[in-house]
Amino acid sequence: MDHDVEKYYTTCMKLVNKAAEVIETAFYKTKQVESKSCDMDLVTETDKEVEKLLIDGLHLAFPDHKFIGEESTAGGEKCILTDAPTWIIDPVDGTMNFVHSLPLIAISIGLLINKKPIIGIICNPILKQTYTAKDGQGAFLNGTKIKVSGETVLAKALIATESGTNDDPAKIEVVLKNLGALLGKCHGTRSLGSAAMNLASVASGGCDAYYEMGLHAWDMAAGQLIVEEAGGTVIDTTGGEFDLMSRRVVCASSEKLAKDIASRLTQYEMERD
Ligand code: IPD
Ligand code: CA
Repeated sequence: MDHDVEKYYTTCMKLVNKAAEVIETAFYKTKQVESKSCDMDLVTETDKEVEKLLIDGLHLAFPDHKFIGEESTAGGEKCILTDAPTWIIDPVDGTMNFVHSLPLIAISIGLLINKKPIIGIICNPILKQTYTAKDGQGAFLNGTKIKVSGETVLAKALIATESGTNDDPAKIEVVLKNLGALLGKCHGTRSLGSAAMNLASVASGGCDAYYEMGLHAWDMAAGQLIVEEAGGTVIDTTGGEFDLMSRRVVCASSEKLAKDIASRLTQYEMERD
């Protein structure tokens, strides 16, 4: 079947712009916050409203497309990736930042067809940054082409990572061990508090690499394509091939740097998405 990727993209971008207005309006107001898996894993009424706006709009336009959405999954829907065109949606990535009105947040949407990333959109409505990519057509920030830094040397790399939203002491131990394996051996580490913004920062050359274990498909779907289209490498934390449902990622400005970082990481075992 032929796919009109341009139509998918423009339809999605119109909905992203509407969703961005919803987030902007809510950003500096008091939020209604609920906990999900633990007290560090939050959801607000805006996360739910934005996810509904995006899924309803895309479903109306493309009734045979499938969806994997962060808040629908939290509400009990199954996370099944088939070969059908599937929109993977994080309505507000960086919900903790959103709750604190720290402007490092993003709407993150990836479209996969035959399990292959075709469209990636990461939109930060507060900083007015929209990162986009279409398969084979490069990566862009607000319409201007972006590329990774090209750094290959760990000692010169600025590395993003996250402690995640999991209070399991075993996970925290692995996070600290991995930080310990890199601190002093690279330029420094950063945590933006949003997986999508970390991925976007590697795509645009601000950070040279990003790794995390415990995140989900909706955190990475858009960012994987944007990093790859910007010339970067996305792999598994074990050093093998990237698997969107494995809940692990290392991305970097070069394959050498990605593999070097992966080789130093201790793994944390989790259930797949
Ligand atoms: C989280 C953020 C955070 C990352 C977590 C994600 P959410 O997403 O991206 O930076 O460390 O793994 O789950 O809950 O803010 O959408
Ligand atoms: Ca997220």
